[in-house]
Amino acid sequence: MTYAKLPALEQKGFVVLRKYEKPIPPEEYLNMEYVDWKSGGDTNFAPIASAFGQMECAGFWDHGKPDKDGMWTDNAKACPSLVEWTERVGARYGRVRTIKLNPNTEEEAIKNMHPDDNNRLNPDGEGWVVRAWLQLTDNPDSYMIVREDKDDPSSESRIPLPAGAQFVVDSQRLWHAVYHPGTAPRYALIVSYESGPELERWIESERVEAGVGVS
Ligand SMILES: [Fe+2]
Repeated sequence: MTYAKLPALEQKGFVVLRKYEKPIPPEEYLNMEYVDWKSGGDTNFAPIASAFGQMECAGFWDHGKPDKDGMWTDNAKACPSLVEWTERVGARYGRVRTIKLNPNTEEEAIKNMHPDDNNRLNPDGEGWVVRAWLQLTDNPDSYMIVREDKDDPSSESRIPLPAGAQFVVDSQRLWHAVYHPGTAPRYALIVSYESGPELERWIESERVEAGVGVS
């Protein structure tokens, strides 16, 4: 199978963008309906877009779809800023969810590392599905651990998680999990996007260099 992939992710499998400056009202993600769904630790997820708009976190393949063309759930009404963020990127999106992760240890995080299943049923020749994160709570001491090889710490990078952190990860390629040493849950928005010119344009516009006048 051949898929369109982004040059920006070719080397490391992820790219950290500049911080999103517009504040997200906490009630948007605190008041949504969460479902018990375990991924990468003690987690709950609030589905904002799902395969057919149901309140569920199942892979779109369970409904015969690739992870694209997500449909808004009832939660979407409660989080206009998150819906706006998702649509502003301009790329085709699939699953849209917030994650609530309870505090953990680094050892647990490493044990919980996994690759995502983003491209099941993705038709040959279309764009490879990757994921974008928007960090909602301010957790500067927490970070996402990403590894090219799960058993090789030298292949590891760490993505810090202050409020507003935006980053894109080829999360099917990289093993990943978040180490969150805080005392309160960590919340983040996670969106599956199709690789293509739209996503590329957004990444280029949000690159750290783009906003600070580096020539
Ligand atoms: Fe994951």
